[in-house]
Amino acid sequence: MVDLVLDLDTGIDDAIALSIAAKDKGINLLGVTCTYGNVTVEESAYNTLSLLSLLHREDVPVYIGRNRSLLSSSPYTPREAGRKIHGKYGSGDIKLKESPRKPEPISAKAFLTSLMKEREDITIVTTGPMTNLASILIDEPSLSKWKGKIVFMGGALTVRGNVNHFAEANIYKDPESAKTVLESGLDITMIGLDVTERTRLYRKDAEKWKEKGSELGLTLGSLLDYYLDNTLGMDETYVHDPSAVITVLHPEYFTFLPFPLTVETEGIDRGRVIIDDKRLLSRKGEIKVALDVNRRLLEGFLADIEKYL
Ligand code: BDR
Ligand code: CA
Repeated sequence: MVDLVLDLDTGIDDAIALSIAAKDKGINLLGVTCTYGNVTVEESAYNTLSLLSLLHREDVPVYIGRNRSLLSSSPYTPREAGRKIHGKYGSGDIKLKESPRKPEPISAKAFLTSLMKEREDITIVTTGPMTNLASILIDEPSLSKWKGKIVFMGGALTVRGNVNHFAEANIYKDPESAKTVLESGLDITMIGLDVTERTRLYRKDAEKWKEKGSELGLTLGSLLDYYLDNTLGMDETYVHDPSAVITVLHPEYFTFLPFPLTVETEGIDRGRVIIDDKRLLSRKGEIKVALDVNRRLLEGFLADIEKYL
């Protein structure tokens, strides 16, 4: 059983990742910290609380994180493209029901900092910009010696980006944070577009979820329908954020190679994850980069999600 914290910008694929983490017997979900990206940080918390109530996981605490990138002076407002892919509120063409629960009174940063100081046997999975983690590492540099594991969905090392030719969306929204985390020396696994664009969720998955008839099944099915229509516009779409949670449960589905990584922060390739050639000789602080995935096994896992609904 893996003790896990999720750091989410809760749009549609984040919602599917959350459902897996909340329901799978292999994961003990300790909390969700919210970030901005697909939605504002407040909308991320709203959606997370609502989904946790549908998932009957009102026991999982939710914390609000920083509302902007490291260098930004104003709160993040989602871009047109993000609103199109994830919907006006990050939940397709519906607004999720408001949960009676509120976010916890302490910040995501306060929660994660004390958890990291207390325990080293946990995994943190991030599926949005890594601002929360970076803020912690900047304020508490000693935590770069932390022995826990980080898994992040983001970056594109061997394939083109999805914001522009070079950059993937989560890294692009806060390159300085991503650079801080990737150069920290922590135990990090990268789940980038290199693998998430190699697998698919299908229209038939959405159909099966809706057929379950439960509020959770109907909601997740409608979210996936919307996502299918607004990503590739076909009956299949990429598997970004769920792949990061599935890696924790089934690392054997993936092929990893170790590289020292950093992030370009200048010029036209701002936001691009690259191999840090300055560290190629020492190979210090290498990150496990997922470069291939067994499509049959991963899609088989996803086809089985209906058991949670
Ligand atoms: C990432 O960007 C967001 O839109 C998704 O939720 C995912 O985390 C894919 O580039
Ligand atoms: Ca995300």
